Amino acid sequence: MFAAVSQNGIVARALANNLFQLDTLNPRDFTTDNYRRIDDKTFGGGPGMVMKIVPLELTLAQAKLNQAQHGVKQPLVVYLSPQGKRVDQALINQLALDQGVIFVCGRYEGIDERFIQRNVDLEISLGDFVVSGGELPAMLLIDAIVRQIPGAMNSQESVTNDSFMDGLLDCPHYTVPRDYCGAEVPEVLCSGNHEQIRKWRLQQSLWRTYQRRPELLDGRQLTKEQSRLLDEMLSRNKIIGKK
Ligand SMILES: C[S@@+](CC[C@H](N)C(=O)[O-])C[C@H]1O[C@@H](n2cnc3c(N)ncnc32)[C@H](O)[C@@H]1O
Repeated sequence: MFAAVSQNGIVARALANNLFQLDTLNPRDFTTDNYRRIDDKTFGGGPGMVMKIVPLELTLAQAKLNQAQHGVKQPLVVYLSPQGKRVDQALINQLALDQGVIFVCGRYEGIDERFIQRNVDLEISLGDFVVSGGELPAMLLIDAIVRQIPGAMNSQESVTNDSFMDGLLDCPHYTVPRDYCGAEVPEVLCSGNHEQIRKWRLQQSLWRTYQRRPELLDGRQLTKEQSRLLDEMLSRNKIIGKK
C-alpha cells in the first residue's frame, strides 16, 4: 500500500534524495503459526477481530532496531486511531521535528489495548470518522510531514504560504488563460506590482479565513496591517462590528 506515497511525487523525490528514510513492516511476518494469524476473537464476545499483541510487539522491536540503524535512539511511537488527538498543521510541524516516528496501523476492531498502554506515545486521529485501517491515515501523515522537511519541496515559499502554516487559509490562485468564459483573473495579479500583490494575497487570506474558518481568528492578535485589510473587506461587504 505504501507505494502510493513512496513511489509518487514529493515523497518519492525526498526518498531518492535521502532526505528521510521509510521502512514498512508487516506484522504477519512476525507470527509463528502456520496460518500467520495476527488477529483473534475479542474477549467478552461480540463481532470483529482484534490484532494480537505478540506479533505487534515483535514488529515494533524490529522497527526500533531499524530506526537505531539510522541513528534514532528514541523514535516516537504513534498509533493511528479515531480515538486519538485530532491532527492539525501544528501537530504535523511538531512531528516533522522528531528524528524518527513509528506509525502503528490498526485493522479490524483495532489492536489489543495492552499494546497501546505498553508502547504508544501518542494516538493520532484524522477526524471523526472511521476508515478500515491505519495505513491510509499513516500515508497522509507521511506526505504532510515530508512537505515540512527542508529541501523536499521545490519552493520552500509555497510551503510557508500553505493554509494553516501561519494560522490562516491560503489565498485563491489562478493560472492561464487570463480570461475564461468571461471569468477574469483579478487585475492586480497581472500588474507586476509585487507589493500590491502581497497585500491582495494577505487580504484574501484574511477574508477567506474570516468567512470559512472564523474560529481560526479567535484570540489571534492581528497586526495593524492585517486588521486594516480585514476591516476594508468587512466594510466593503457591509459587515460592521463583527470582527
Ligand atoms: C475499523 S478501525 C477500528 C475502529 C475502532 N473499533 C474504534 O471505533 O475506535 C481499524 C483501524 O483503522 C485506523 N483508523 C480508523 N479510523 C481512523 C481515523 N479516523 N484516524 C486514524 N486512524 C483510523 C486505526 O488504526 C484502527 O485501528
